[in-house]
Amino acid sequence: MNRVSHHSSTAGLLVAIVAASAAVSVSAYPGGTPDFQTDVIPYCATCHSSLDEASLQGAGERAKKEVADRKHLATVLAAEKGYGELSEADRQTLVTHIKAVDANSSIKLEFPPQVAKGETFQVTVRVTGGAGPVVGVALVDRPHRWYARSATTVGWKVIGAPTIIGPDGSPQTEWINKRPEREGRNITYVNVTGVESDAVAGTWSKSKIIFNLKAPDEVGEYPLVGAYFYGTEKATPLGYEEHPIYGKLIRGTYTGKSGRVRFTPTNTINVR
Ligand code: HEC
Repeated sequence: MNRVSHHSSTAGLLVAIVAASAAVSVSAYPGGTPDFQTDVIPYCATCHSSLDEASLQGAGERAKKEVADRKHLATVLAAEKGYGELSEADRQTLVTHIKAVDANSSIKLEFPPQVAKGETFQVTVRVTGGAGPVVGVALVDRPHRWYARSATTVGWKVIGAPTIIGPDGSPQTEWINKRPEREGRNITYVNVTGVESDAVAGTWSKSKIIFNLKAPDEVGEYPLVGAYFYGTEKATPLGYEEHPIYGKLIRGTYTGKSGRVRFTPTNTINVR
């Protein structure tokens, strides 16, 4: 008897732990990546959708399936997952709102066209939109979801921690400082917090990230590409339900396709 009750209370404890970790994972990707202070490569964002086929060039039919129209918006219109709780008219409106988020979410790099060998210079990444509360930005070597590598693999070095300027214009250090200083904070990926776009009001957050890069020691043309990770559904009240504990729960759910990954074109910097 004793053993039985011991077992059943262990089972109860297990259930509690599983429930707690489920709650944690709800805030893991919707909510950005609060915990990975490292170089992030776009292949990780399997659930996210693309805006064009080019970012999966060479992947055949799969490239078409990854585009938001098919991977995400079609599931909204087909009333899959939580979308079925909306009326048809509301599903149409949700699609219109999500398209507005995509149309107003952008990433752009500012950099000198030419630098000297070994020179340290600034690259400013400007991002707009993203539903929030978080967006992610990475520097990579090519605009490809499966084949991109970190920008450092082609010879750029990151010097010091990136400076993150949030939508309110203030520098943010909380996310990057989670990485212990002794590990080096000179990474190619950041989360920006405090993002809040509103597809109904048509207001879009703007942030910027400044990386100090050191040029390679050999003359040449080197690629530099920005990758942008953002969500769409939390930008419209039709896209989520407010949960008393977990906050905004998106209709597409955690495994849905409402995230995006998009790229800048392949920029090249001339190292002389
Ligand atoms: C299990 C599916 C899944 C995977 C895998 C995934 N994401 Fe996401 N991610 C989502 C969803 C869904 C959203 C969109 C939330 C929304 O629409 O508002 C999202 C949004 C985001 C956001 C914006 C945060 C927000 O709340 O909108 C960032 C940043 C992000 N993901 C980064 C990443 C990175 C980096 C990886 C790889 C390490 C990754 N994601 C892998 C599902 C995923």
